[in-house]
Amino acid sequence: MRIAVLTGAGISAESGLATFRAGDGLWERHRVEDVATPEAFARDPALVHRFYNARRAKAADARPNAAHRALAALASRHDLVLITQNVDDLHERAGSRSVIHIHGSLTRALCAACAHRWDAPAVMSAGDPCPACAARAIRPDIVWFGEMPHHMEIVWEALAAADLFVAIGTSGNVYPAAGFAQHAGRCGAECIEMNIDDSANARDFDRRILGPASQTVPDWVASLGA
Ligand code: OAD
Repeated sequence: MRIAVLTGAGISAESGLATFRAGDGLWERHRVEDVATPEAFARDPALVHRFYNARRAKAADARPNAAHRALAALASRHDLVLITQNVDDLHERAGSRSVIHIHGSLTRALCAACAHRWDAPAVMSAGDPCPACAARAIRPDIVWFGEMPHHMEIVWEALAAADLFVAIGTSGNVYPAAGFAQHAGRCGAECIEMNIDDSANARDFDRRILGPASQTVPDWVASLGA
């Protein structure tokens, strides 16, 4: 069976990382327009670096939970494509390989001048030079609002080929990821949603498993068998 999984901030919530749209979520405490757009970075790069330096530190301190581990185990038994909107590396640290980060990654840096990419230091600052071209235009390798998500060709193909599409811990508010269930469903996949609460695109799923990911994901993986 070919399985495509999409994860969102909810899968890392029980590892202690804040989600975006909860009452105490990141977008309640920081305005998207101030920290997560190319315009924000052009206006105040130091503020944007501070925001992502804090996210990077939190992610480094967090540990993968049972849901991340269950997905890593699933890959050894099934043909799995793991797509994440998350910029943390908890899937990798749980043992998953070839994770598709459509919104980029906190562990990577990008030069806005020459497009060179490298492993991000723990703390990035606007004045640091690019190791390749020396321009002082370094930024986190994160996809901001108004930018194209990464790896979309591979993703659309994986969704079209999937027998089963599962979305875990995502509110279904941000496209293109919010449209993955509709695309996979139209191409013939069964679509399952796992969330602790209602999502904005619940109508696109055939089945819904309600509960915390650290319980629902391991149970679902166990139910698939070998
Ligand atoms: P959101 O914060 O929008 O949604 C998190 C979802 O996780 C919600 O639907 C919660 O109900 C659910 N959730 C919370 N705790 C959970 C748990 N323990 N188990 C299962 N589900 C749980 O986060 P995303 O949907 O990932 O993009 O947000 C998508 C994108 O919006 C992010 O990648 C980010 C943000 O703006 C960029 O920054 C470009």
